[in-house]
Amino acid sequence: MSKKKLLITGGAGFIGGNFVQYVVNKYADYDITNLDLLTYAGEVTKHVEIKDKSNYHFVQADIADRETIMSLFEQEKFDYVVHFAAESHVDRSITDPAVFVRTNVMGTQVLLDAARKIGISKFVHVSTDEVYGELDFDPTVFFTEETPLQPNSPYSASKASSDLLVRAYHETFGLPMNITRCSNNYGPYHFPEKLIPLTISKIMNDQKVPVYGDGKNIRDWLHVWDHCAAIDLVLHEGVSGEVYNVGGHNERTNLEVVKTIIETLEKSEDLIEFVTDRLGHDKRYAIDPTKLEKLGWKPTYTFETGIAQTIQWYIDNTAWWELILSGDYRK
Ligand SMILES: NC(=O)c1ccc[n+]([C@@H]2O[C@H](COP(=O)([O-])OP(=O)(O)OC[C@H]3O[C@@H](n4cnc5c(N)ncnc54)[C@H](O)[C@@H]3O)[C@@H](O)[C@H]2O)c1
Repeated sequence: MSKKKLLITGGAGFIGGNFVQYVVNKYADYDITNLDLLTYAGEVTKHVEIKDKSNYHFVQADIADRETIMSLFEQEKFDYVVHFAAESHVDRSITDPAVFVRTNVMGTQVLLDAARKIGISKFVHVSTDEVYGELDFDPTVFFTEETPLQPNSPYSASKASSDLLVRAYHETFGLPMNITRCSNNYGPYHFPEKLIPLTISKIMNDQKVPVYGDGKNIRDWLHVWDHCAAIDLVLHEGVSGEVYNVGGHNERTNLEVVKTIIETLEKSEDLIEFVTDRLGHDKRYAIDPTKLEKLGWKPTYTFETGIAQTIQWYIDNTAWWELILSGDYRK
């Protein structure tokens, strides 16, 4: 039997990078291609331990480059695509929305056309709970797969647009697909512009930590390795055409997250600096993962065990995030 061919887009970034390592180590019998443009958010030093494995290949390419993507798909005849590649930082989408539309919407459409042309077995589109907009602070209300899409930032609007294209390619052309919508991830190799790695790196360097507004915005935190297991399950067992929400009921205010990191690193709360709130800052995200749990998924980390593991990882891997902060990883 020929080997299954799996394409992962955005596998030099945070979640895609963890997923690449997860599947390369788990599926020795798959042929795995990591396609990534290597924008500021992508770097492949994280893959030093797998880069020479026979089941792993890296291709540097732009998902919005139609000609290159079409010919790669025609040559490789992938069975599966797991699509992570995106512009992912909300703050950047507020200052420069255009690149978000180009990569997240137009790039996704190119991949869908290529996937359709060769007739793949499954396209998994990795999306975000931010497409649902925001919840108020009522702790009994959660995002379900039925919640209407009401994105508030250019980032979430571009992700919602790509979700709708994936849905439309399923409805119109019968493309086998799943969409996953996940809450905020954290864990190893998280780019230090995002709240948790930014806070850890600043506090380890005794620098002030910026907290937006009053710090009371709530996020539902999921360890990236639990997310990887969820995507693996959806890829292989998900019912085609279905959306699955991924979250572990780990709601914390941003201020609670920062205080937990300060306490763990035995530093002073004087390092907290409240700064002007982000424009259109969503109040609360919280996921109801019942549908995915029925498929057989359960998170293995609580916020307490996951944040302890993550802080320890950043202590043990100072060289990785210092390389990023210095900008030398771009060389
Ligand atoms: N980080 C989170 O908490 C979170 C939560 C839910 C969903 N998501 C979604 O998961 C996916 C991955 O998020 P992440 O945090 O790992 O992002 P990331 O920014 O760390 O990585 C994105 C990767 O995509 C690559 N990329 C960007 N533009 C590209 C292009 N035109 N062609 C090819 N590659 C390109 C980058 O080089 C980078 O390696 C995204 O689609 C994001 O919307 C993220």
